[in-house]
Formats: sequence, C-alpha cells, structure tokens
Amino acid sequence: MSNITKVREQYNPTGLTERIKSALAAIAPGGQRLTVAQLASLDQFHTRGILATAELASAAGIEPSTRVLDLGCGIGGPARYLASTFGCQVTGIDLSPAFIDAAAYLTARSGLSDRVTFQAGDALHLPFEDAAFDAVFLQHVAMNIEDRPALYAEVGRVLAGSGRFVTYDLVLRNGDVAYPTPWARDASTSFLLDEAGTRTALENAGFKAVLWRDDTQAALDWFKAMAGSPPTSPNLSVVIGPDFPAITANLARNIREKRLGVLSAVLTRDGNLSQ
Ligand SMILES: C[S@@+](CC[C@H](N)C(=O)[O-])C[C@H]1O[C@@H](n2cnc3c(N)ncnc32)[C@H](O)[C@@H]1O
Repeated sequence: MSNITKVREQYNPTGLTERIKSALAAIAPGGQRLTVAQLASLDQFHTRGILATAELASAAGIEPSTRVLDLGCGIGGPARYLASTFGCQVTGIDLSPAFIDAAAYLTARSGLSDRVTFQAGDALHLPFEDAAFDAVFLQHVAMNIEDRPALYAEVGRVLAGSGRFVTYDLVLRNGDVAYPTPWARDASTSFLLDEAGTRTALENAGFKAVLWRDDTQAALDWFKAMAGSPPTSPNLSVVIGPDFPAITANLARNIREKRLGVLSAVLTRDGNLSQ
C-alpha cells in the first residue's frame, strides 16, 4: 500500500458527518446556525487550535481580497475562521473524502458556503492553475508527506509571485517519538523533519522567512490550560474517536520531553510581506 493510501485511510473515518451532526445537536439543536467560536474545539485539528490559526493569519496579513488555499484543510475550521474573520475567499483541499464531506456540512451550517469551498485531492498534485492563490496555509500536514521538496514546490507553483506561505509544523528534536499521535498511528505514516531540515527544504523551494518562531513553550502552556478546563462543546474526540485522550497525551508528552518542537512560519519569495 502506498504512503498516500495509508494516510488517506487513517484520516477517513466512516459516518463522520453523521457523528458530528449528532454531537452538535447538544449545542445547536434543529440545525441552528453555528459560529466559528462554537466549533473551535472540534474543527481546528492542530496544536494550540484556533489561537495558532489566528496568530498566523495576522502575521501573514490576510485581507478581504486575499485568495487563500488551505492545504490539508481537515474538516475546515481554519478555512472558516479565515473567511469569517477577514471576509476572504478560501479553498480547502484534503486527501480525506470523509473530512471534505464534514467540512462542507459545517460550512453550510455556518452560513459560509459562498466564501469557502472544498474538494478532495492530494497536496502533491493540486488541481489548480499556476499562481492561483495569494496565501497558502499548511497547518500540521507536512509531517504526513514524505516528499517534502515536491510538497513545497507544488505550494510555490500555485502561489502568486507576492504570495505568502504559512506553515505550522511539528519538528523533530531529540529522541524517538512515541506513537500513536494525532497524525500517525505509527512511524510508517510519519515523515517529520527537524527545524534545520525544514528550513533547508523551504529555502531550496525558493522561500525566505518573514516569520520563523519556536512555539514549543506556547504549546506546552496550551496543553496545561486544556488539562485544567474540560470541554464545554464537542471537541476533536468526535473526529478522532476513542483514542483521542491517549494520542493527545502522547503528543503533549513528546513535546514536554523535547522529542518534538512546534514551529510557526510565514514565508515569501523575497522575505518581505508585500500586499
Ligand atoms: C492533523 S490534520 C490537520 C488539518 C487542518 N490543517 C487543521 O489544522 O485543522 C492533517 C490533515 O492533512 C491531510 N493530509 C495529509 N496528507 C495529505 C496530502 N498528501 N494531501 C492533502 N491532504 C493531506 C489529512 O487528510 C488531514 O486532514
């Protein structure tokens, strides 16, 4: 089985949209409209959740006219946040048909279908014209993709000349990573690089950093805050399933024990943010 097929299977749970629908009945019965804030514990599938998306969007200077691609969009939380906060058009693409179905459902329930669209596809073979986007977001996706040079080259192809590339990743530090984690059941679908390797791969693809920030301590603080406040709305366990507590604990432990770090970056071709 190819790596892509394995990754797709891992992220393609059956009955996901129906499960989400049932879980949301507790906070928005009868198909009521949902807000980005109500969904944030459920649909931001990365460390530090909506905080990370908000900080990176602000650092990248997203505006109403920015054409955004959310690459590996999951169930669409970041895409909906960007469209509702900045009024921009967002396209989400993801390997998982189940995630794309859930993303479209949640977007309709949020009244955002005119600004946010989704399609299934592979980040290494994007069905878009050259220079079709002004910003590409890639949050907690690169660690599932073995061919990092091909991934960053494909981002560069679809990004306009003055475009911004937002990438938010876990990076290898010291020691063996404990699995299962939220992105990989075992090492066979995990393709982490260290920080220097990530930077080299990005620079080789023609990108220069505008922002390059170690968010490891911020992630640890966030895990601590989460542990002290039980969820009051449906959270990612609806998407991930019964393993959610164990795999989230593994992620926190990997970061705490300095096996993994958390890296936020915004890059352009010339290292400047021009609009
Ligand atoms: C940890 S989730 C992050 C989802 C989303 N970016 C977020 O932050 O909410 C990783 C996502 O990457 C997607 N993914 C992994 N490999 C991919 C590929 N080659 N092409 C497109 N999506 C991919 C998975 O299907 C999954 O939805």
